[in-house]
Amino acid sequence: MLSRPPDPRPLMYLQKNLMSKTPLVELKHISFKYQDSEHLVLDNVDFALGERRIGLIGPNGSGKTTMFHVIMGLHTPSSGIVLYRGKPVKKESEFRELRRDVGLIFQNADDQLFSPTVMEDVAFGPLNLGASPDEAGKIARKTLDDLGLSGLKNRITHRLSGGEKKLVSLATILSMDPKVLLMDEPTNDLDPPTRARLITILKELKQSYVIISHDWDFLTDTVQDIFGMDHGRVIRCDKEHLHNHPHAHPFGTQHHHHV
Ligand SMILES: Nc1ncnc2c1ncn2[C@@H]1O[C@H](COP(=O)(O)OP(=O)(O)OP(=O)(O)O)[C@@H](O)[C@H]1O
Ligand SMILES: [Mg+2]
Repeated sequence: MLSRPPDPRPLMYLQKNLMSKTPLVELKHISFKYQDSEHLVLDNVDFALGERRIGLIGPNGSGKTTMFHVIMGLHTPSSGIVLYRGKPVKKESEFRELRRDVGLIFQNADDQLFSPTVMEDVAFGPLNLGASPDEAGKIARKTLDDLGLSGLKNRITHRLSGGEKKLVSLATILSMDPKVLLMDEPTNDLDPPTRARLITILKELKQSYVIISHDWDFLTDTVQDIFGMDHGRVIRCDKEHLHNHPHAHPFGTQHHHHV
């Protein structure tokens, strides 16, 4: 289990020190329960995102996905506030603005992909943002090219493999050119060469991002800061706050501690 600091405030100090200006999105004292449940899934969470590349690691059920969904306005917090460019966001129209800047790659690719073909799925976002069909087609082709996925262009989306779906999900978000990406377990279903390719892709992206992953080595390769989540609290994850390690890591090379 992750160790818990006595007060979550040091996290905000740390994040604020790392950011040079108002964060693009900030969670302040966010708590959240699902309907008909007494269980506090998010417990007074403070978190900021914008410029840095951040990793979020933590046990199953600790609230990581829920936090992403609160950031996107898919869940309404029980208390606390979401700030976008320093201003509170509450209404759906305000979250729509936020979603132009923040792209979510769902944990389950089947929640992301809904068009018959890969091209249509990747072109959907730009079309929705007002691009003409020609422009949207161009953007989709270029995005797939950049990711080395041109070969999948005309494939039927629901017949893609799990790993292919994950990469196409990334393409559907990148085609909208968000400022920040939220990636929920992007290496799930990826074989080692594809995982390595994703690392190369992420390193070349101009965007900042937050990645949820159980893959410590992947995070150390792709992010600047790593935070842990435990029982609905976001905590620093560094030498003083060691993570537990229930998973196998056959490709792990980075030195790290087990508790
Ligand atoms: N729609 C829902 N209704 C009720 N409880 C839910 C719902 N979705 C998630 N939960 C519960 O909320 C808690 C946090 O779930 P969440 O999916 O955010 O965890 P996670 O950290 O992303 O886990 P994982 O690593 O397994 O993806 C879990 O106990 C889960 O069972
Ligand atoms: Mg999750």
